[in-house]
Amino acid sequence: MLHFIPDRASTLSSRSADAMPNRLELAENARLRELVQRYLDRVEEQPQYTPEQEEAFRRRIKELLVEKDAVIVAHYYTEPQIQALAEETGGIVSDSLEMARFGKQHPAQTLVVCGVRFMGETAKILSPEKRVFMPTLEATCSLDIGCPPDEFARFCDQHPERTVVVYANTSVAVKARADWVVTSSIAVDVVEYLDRLGHKILWAPDKHLGAYIQRRTGADMLLWDGACVVHEEFKYRGILELKQLYPDAAVLAHPESPAAVVEIADAVGSTSQLIEAARTLPHKRLIVATDKGIFYKMQQAAPDKELIEAPTAGHGATCRSCAHCPWMAMNHLENLMLSLERETNEVLVDPELGRRALVPLERMLEFRERQLYSGD
Ligand code: 13P
Ligand code: SF4
Repeated sequence: MLHFIPDRASTLSSRSADAMPNRLELAENARLRELVQRYLDRVEEQPQYTPEQEEAFRRRIKELLVEKDAVIVAHYYTEPQIQALAEETGGIVSDSLEMARFGKQHPAQTLVVCGVRFMGETAKILSPEKRVFMPTLEATCSLDIGCPPDEFARFCDQHPERTVVVYANTSVAVKARADWVVTSSIAVDVVEYLDRLGHKILWAPDKHLGAYIQRRTGADMLLWDGACVVHEEFKYRGILELKQLYPDAAVLAHPESPAAVVEIADAVGSTSQLIEAARTLPHKRLIVATDKGIFYKMQQAAPDKELIEAPTAGHGATCRSCAHCPWMAMNHLENLMLSLERETNEVLVDPELGRRALVPLERMLEFRERQLYSGD
């Protein structure tokens, strides 16, 4: 059974394909988009560096990593230069679940998290004794912005009978209110497990991921109305047109994409799961509906395959969000170097909220450990 937040129910009506939104939907979307736009306005143009400058940054970062006993924890959506440096220096490039696990388990006393703020905060909550830096603290996420802690707490208060499961792409305060935190690579498994135990779920904030989990598990879920401004722009019709051009291509989609896109995909999953699908699917051409930053590692995993960006169009907050997360793009070599050199952009978390958020985060990691132990 799938429920939606009552006063937002119309926003979440099960439309198919890329149908035109109704007036209420437009008003809701406009509210979120205005909020998101205010953050996007603060995103600066990407600096352009010469190869010599880049090499100088790389050399200095390598020195600083040793000097400060630090390791880079990077997401697949960051720029290739950062991903390459993380790999060369013993750090990690991964999805958000593995970033969390790696940061907690690594012996380094300093973590440099390249990604968006919730990733830095998660690292700090899991390792309060470590210092966590980010190239910028301005890098947020439309899902985090669209789920204000006070509004979310009221929503939870209205449904005390439900188990609160939140996506990792949330603030510390929202996590502190949750029973479980999940990432996209583990969300279906956790909800399936809770459903088997008879739990009814309150899910936040991504409505597309929530609806996907509900379709996969059949669980009773009440959904918050949030969305990723990047994945929401992938268009079913555009992908179908591309499929006509390349009938032999497989479609890979992150489950933050709209249902119509997910339904026509040959593989749906977290960023690491999509890279694995690119490697193992027999198709030589792949249409990829997720941030194009992933192409760097995907091409390494599937060197003989042609990767094609899934088309975006329509009601985007701004074209800067088309297929590339504007906040992930705020990470670059220079600000990475400066944050380590000057010890700026340190991620600090309210200790009490952090202690509360640790409980559902550790639940997720223990669940993952049990899966790995049992070979799932
Ligand atoms: P993953 O956990 O799949 O890496 O997703 C994080 C994210 O922000 C996707 O937009
Ligand atoms: Fe958030 Fe979407 Fe960016 Fe991922 S791609 S960090 S969900 S805005």
